Amino acid sequence: MSTPGVPRPTDPTTTPPEYGISPATPDPTLRAALAGVRDEVAKAVVGQEAAVTSLLIALLCRGHVLLEGVPGVAKTLLVRTLAASLDLDTKRVQFTPDLMPGDITGSLVYDARTAEFSFREGPVFTNLLLADEINRTPPKTQASLLEAMEERQVSVDGTPRPLPDPFIVIATQNPVEYEGTYPLPEAQLDRFLLKVLLPLPEREDEVEILARHAAGFDPRDLGAAGVQATTTAAELEKARAEVATVRVAPEVLGYVVDICRATRRSPSLSLGVSPRGATALLATSRAWAWLCGRSFVTPDDVKALAHPTLRHRVQLRPEAELEGVTAESVLAAVLASVPVPR
Ligand SMILES: Nc1ncnc2c1ncn2[C@@H]1O[C@H](COP(=O)(O)OP(=O)(O)OP(=O)(O)O)[C@@H](O)[C@H]1O
Ligand SMILES: [Mg+2]
Repeated sequence: MSTPGVPRPTDPTTTPPEYGISPATPDPTLRAALAGVRDEVAKAVVGQEAAVTSLLIALLCRGHVLLEGVPGVAKTLLVRTLAASLDLDTKRVQFTPDLMPGDITGSLVYDARTAEFSFREGPVFTNLLLADEINRTPPKTQASLLEAMEERQVSVDGTPRPLPDPFIVIATQNPVEYEGTYPLPEAQLDRFLLKVLLPLPEREDEVEILARHAAGFDPRDLGAAGVQATTTAAELEKARAEVATVRVAPEVLGYVVDICRATRRSPSLSLGVSPRGATALLATSRAWAWLCGRSFVTPDDVKALAHPTLRHRVQLRPEAELEGVTAESVLAAVLASVPVPR
């Protein structure tokens, strides 16, 4: 499985004159704080840098992430380590076939002392929710989470209850063709800002994983591996405010739109990227530009984020699927065909 992922941020490049630069250059201390998350995660997870960067981008955009990979590629370890490296309230839910919607959102419980019903908050009332193996739970329970993700609130018994801010879901799933899984509804997949693929490790990385295990690494004890909460909610908030000032030239806006429009014309797709998908690509490209230390978005930023931001927002025609066409190959063809602004 090839993963067109997001490369590691490089150092700030010089400014092409046509984009100009705003006075608010990204604050190097803030960038270092966010880069620190990457170092913490690397204490437990070998490699998988593209996935880690994508998760950082999602944090900067307050977006939800769907993390997909075959069993045993450290999906759970990655999100647990990310949570441990952030000073945020985090909860983890293992999605099982018998999980009920109320186990996610919370429910009304009867208090015999006061003879009244009171609301007991479910695990969605947190900053970072790790929804592990989301496709092992039936659609009704998935729907309760997807609703909370979209609305950032929970309604039980007609009373809306807002979720904390930030509220970010990182959901893991095995590829959907696995037995005993319930595929997420296609129409709701675009509630995820990014769909990140976790590939099998390279040989070198796999040897390093084994070397760490041989030296006593215990994936259940992240503290022993030296993972610490280094980044605070306040830092994340400040970084987010900076991302919001990253400039986008009209030509680059046009480029994002042209890419999304080209997917709608692709003969291999029954459904192309929606305008919501276009706004998502704009947001992730901006966060990536900021992580690279720039205060403006380049067409290359857009290209770097196109696959993880758009792959789950297109639907293949069955006949194209039979011919071996994939969302990745369609997106690659689209990126190759849409003229890049100069
Ligand atoms: N890149 C990696 N770095 C460090 N450890 C790894 C890596 N890949 C796999 N491992 C090891 O494999 C174990 C399995 O990882 P984990 O349970 O997170 O996989 P998973 O992708 O969540 O699998 P499943 O789909 O079965 O839940 C980890 O606890 C770790 O010991
Ligand atoms: Mg797992």
